[in-house]
Amino acid sequence: MSTFLDEFAQAPDLRYLNHAAVGPWPKRTAVAVRKFAEENVLLGARDYPDWMKVEQRLRERLARLLNAPSIDDIALVKNTSEALSFVAFGLDWKAGDNVVISDEEFPSNRIVWEALKPQGVDVIQVSLKGTDPEGALLAACGPRTRLLSISSVQFATGTRLDIDRLGHGLRQRNVLFCIDAIQHIGALPFDVQASQCDFAMADGHKWMCSPEGLGVFYCRAELRPQLKLHEFGWHMLEHSGDYGRDEWRPASSAQRFECGSPNTLGAMALDASLSLLEEVGMKEVGRSVLERVGWLEQGLSAIGGVTVHSSLEIRRRSGILTFSIDDKPTPQVWQSLMQNQVVCLPRGPGIRFSPHFYTEPRVIEETLSIVQRIATH
Ligand SMILES: Cc1ncc(COP(=O)(O)O)c(C=O)c1O
Repeated sequence: MSTFLDEFAQAPDLRYLNHAAVGPWPKRTAVAVRKFAEENVLLGARDYPDWMKVEQRLRERLARLLNAPSIDDIALVKNTSEALSFVAFGLDWKAGDNVVISDEEFPSNRIVWEALKPQGVDVIQVSLKGTDPEGALLAACGPRTRLLSISSVQFATGTRLDIDRLGHGLRQRNVLFCIDAIQHIGALPFDVQASQCDFAMADGHKWMCSPEGLGVFYCRAELRPQLKLHEFGWHMLEHSGDYGRDEWRPASSAQRFECGSPNTLGAMALDASLSLLEEVGMKEVGRSVLERVGWLEQGLSAIGGVTVHSSLEIRRRSGILTFSIDDKPTPQVWQSLMQNQVVCLPRGPGIRFSPHFYTEPRVIEETLSIVQRIATH
């Protein structure tokens, strides 16, 4: 692990616990972007075919990261919200259909379904607060439920759901399964086949430690032709390089969701960032993330007046831990933390900490001392 620590070079006094918002890049990502910039200055796009090789490698890395059956199942998208919109506005709805979500979703995974209201689609919000959130979600699926869309890790509390169980239950009920996995992929192992999900999406700028603006959209192969397309252009075609052709049809692969020129700069970066996650291995990344969240949880729980809002159950844990200090307003606590170079955000019921696999134990220890100081002053 120690060699991988060298990959991160944040300012020495910075305590970065904000990967659930935007993750810092590893050095190799900065090197790849710098090299790409210099190449563009010197040679323009002379070696464009080489850029496409990197993009191809990126698709392969993403397919491995999600355990997708094929790279044909992987589309490169702008962000999570775009991919959610592809699903919502791609499916053929009938008035009276409904979509089940939770009542803790990030706006992207609520608004997109509420936007189907003019088509007569209802949204059912389910509380995750009980002892069996998966059971509650499945129980909410009725005869008119077409799809369940859920964040596998909730953005504010970090609650992790058992997506394999959900996927199994939804298949039995013939309900489509869509996973907003932006708070999951890159932090913990993720497997579209084990979860039997139909759609999954995530942007690269959080746990994958890459710039904003390039994400992944997985669509199960059998469902690809069923999603109506709303963006058209040269790149999404079966014969995308053949500009003289009059006849056209959308690519049979997930490239059909990529209408025009690719985000090559983003691809250089995400490819480099994922190469690091692959070298460490997602099992080890996940183990380290949970270990660090465990340290934070133990330390925070030992400080008088601190309430940890995230679930303490091991199977519910993720890279996110949210807490508050009983007699102190959250905005004030957040301001004090930021003044002490603890980078985090107020979310949901309190302050959200989100360490990554490389976060040094020193960062956690110093952060806990700072929280202790804030709590006792
Ligand atoms: C659970 C969840 N979904 C979606 C988003 C937004 O993602 P994007 O900007 O990639 O559309 C966020 C961002 O914080 C999020 O936490």
